[in-house]
Amino acid sequence: MRQFKIFLRTLLAILGISILYQILIRLVRKVWHFPAPAFIGHFLDSDLRRAMQPPDIMIARSGIHAGMKVLEIGCGSGGYTIAVARAVGPEGEVAALDIQPAMLHQLAAKLAQPTYQDIHNITLYEASAYDLPFEDETFDLVYMITVFQEIPDRDRALAEVKRVLKPGGLLAITEWLFDPDYPLMSTTAKQGMDAGFVVDAALGDLWTYTVRFKKIAI
Ligand SMILES: C[S@@+](CC[C@H](N)C(=O)[O-])C[C@H]1O[C@@H](n2cnc3c(N)ncnc32)[C@H](O)[C@@H]1O
Repeated sequence: MRQFKIFLRTLLAILGISILYQILIRLVRKVWHFPAPAFIGHFLDSDLRRAMQPPDIMIARSGIHAGMKVLEIGCGSGGYTIAVARAVGPEGEVAALDIQPAMLHQLAAKLAQPTYQDIHNITLYEASAYDLPFEDETFDLVYMITVFQEIPDRDRALAEVKRVLKPGGLLAITEWLFDPDYPLMSTTAKQGMDAGFVVDAALGDLWTYTVRFKKIAI
């Protein structure tokens, strides 16, 4: 009985600390914008994280298919990049872009592992979403998972995304309740529509959702 009480108290303490942490970090993020620190890259690219946001479900929601040319903005340590590369297949290409070299180093180290030697279609770019180092109308799909709200000037980033997308190209923005920058689905949808995109699909639930936008072909 005593052991059960200790277990229960520990569980409640962990729950309380987690809730407090979530409240505090969300308040801090309202005033202080900075990219997710590179040390969380290990958690972002962990099996625990993928259990909460399964890559096959997340990536399928983006409208991805074989042969696509994809830009992943804010790829971080590459928790989803490999799955994106496998989904587009050898005929497709993935440009994995992040503003933090320390995140890209983690992805490069992962790609150097023997398990991933069959992947040849990922190129890494150290750049900002504000100045994408690509020609106009280059990509079929721009993919962002738990990134978009981290970018302070989202209108500027969306203008760049629009520029590099082909007419009829897709933009998929995935958000996760666990992320301190999490916005409601309606907020994300409005931000994209205000930038001139059309909502193609809104998928998922409060825990994790994807809003898929289309660049209208003119
Ligand atoms: C929370 S992490 C998510 C990483 C990865 N998408 C994932 O889900 O595992 C957000 C990433 O976005 C990157 N980022 C933040 N602002 C950026 C910007 N302006 N341009 C490009 N990348 C940015 C950060 O460096 C970080 O790696």
